[in-house]
Amino acid sequence: MSQFSYQDGVLHAEGVSLSAIAEQFGTPTYVYSKAALLANFAAYADACRGRDALVCYAMKANSNLAILDLLARQGAGFDIVSGGELLRVLAAGGDPRKVIFSGVGKSVDEMRLALSHDILCFNVESIPELHRLNEVAGALGKQARISLRVNPNVDPKTHPYIATGLKASKFGVAFDDALATYRAAAQLPHLDVVGIDCHIGSQLLDDEPLLEALDRLIELIDQLGAEGIELHHLDMGGGIGIDYREQGEAPPVPVGDYLERVFARVDAWRAARHNGKPITVIFEPGRSIVGDTGVLLTRVEFLKHGEEKNFCIVDAAMNDMARPALYQAWMDMQPVVQGGAEATAYDIVGPICESGDWLARDRALAITAGDLLVMHTAGAYGMTMASNYNTRGRAAEVMVDGATPHLVRQRENPADLYALESVLK
Ligand code: LLP
Repeated sequence: MSQFSYQDGVLHAEGVSLSAIAEQFGTPTYVYSKAALLANFAAYADACRGRDALVCYAMKANSNLAILDLLARQGAGFDIVSGGELLRVLAAGGDPRKVIFSGVGKSVDEMRLALSHDILCFNVESIPELHRLNEVAGALGKQARISLRVNPNVDPKTHPYIATGLKASKFGVAFDDALATYRAAAQLPHLDVVGIDCHIGSQLLDDEPLLEALDRLIELIDQLGAEGIELHHLDMGGGIGIDYREQGEAPPVPVGDYLERVFARVDAWRAARHNGKPITVIFEPGRSIVGDTGVLLTRVEFLKHGEEKNFCIVDAAMNDMARPALYQAWMDMQPVVQGGAEATAYDIVGPICESGDWLARDRALAITAGDLLVMHTAGAYGMTMASNYNTRGRAAEVMVDGATPHLVRQRENPADLYALESVLK
């Protein structure tokens, strides 16, 4: 059930109207539903109940402390890609022993920070990274638990910018090099080889490519076992897509069904070839936890009628939501108040000085200047990808809990944006 619904013709987040939120907090503002967040996490947690499994939320999708805090209280771990994200986990009260560190370019400082907090595992992506981590751990007198991110070379059938598991991708270790890389890792004295992982891409509507990747990882775990390298966990990465409501797009696979299929394959393999030995299954979902829990609330500044096109100029822009400009992503936009004028087709654009600054194209909308619009399904990769281009302060973020809106991030003001700058003396 969506937590964003029209009540008496006005769009609400849970029990609060978006008009009231605009009134109180201004626009543009990201608005999240706590109930929607908890329901999405529960879909993973329920499917994992009674299993040897851990859900590490990929916080790059949305790293607001309020979201991290709620997920940490539900027992979530976190998939991080920087030292900054680790500090956010700690600030939100998350458990570093449930943190997985992904990414191709971990710095020495980031490794030190993560080791000093004893994180669960580093997902290592190259041989030079193995050597760097071994040295850093040795200097601190620690052992680093590692997993190798293996590139299973399956086609995730998604946008090329968010496909990550193909041969030509910068991520991971090639499938054919994986055994040799594991052997090299096992020789390094300050590394404990504990797992294997992959992440083949994002916004996958079908789980078949993920299950194919799982089969390839299992094949490697068998080969490693035969050489005496025993792995304790298998990390499927993230990638399950969500419904952006784009017409004609297939609905995404339900989370519970996907997890069930993963566990069924893992169980069958453990029984047949792994001597029933335990293995922890880790998931790193981002978008499917937060994507449909947020909207971007914006106000129409002007309607501009041109010869070929009509433009609806709003106060949100590509700096607030980059997905359309970056990936030509289709995002649903609707008026907050239903009814009104006759519908006209508009391109919805922001105030930034770039032709690429658009949020949606060719949408039939019954609106007038001053009206409020929302961009739906904006909870993932919205605020975390926001920038200050054109010296625009980033939007406020509000989380609704029942009948109460909570401000969970203040709007930036311009003075904040140049506070760290200085002129030549
Ligand atoms: N694990 C790793 C190692 C990842 O790189 C990612 C996402 C995830 C997990 C989470 O994937 P998800 O469950 O969210 O699909 N900015 C793009 C998406 C980039 C995804 C990057 N990696 C977008 O807005 O579509």
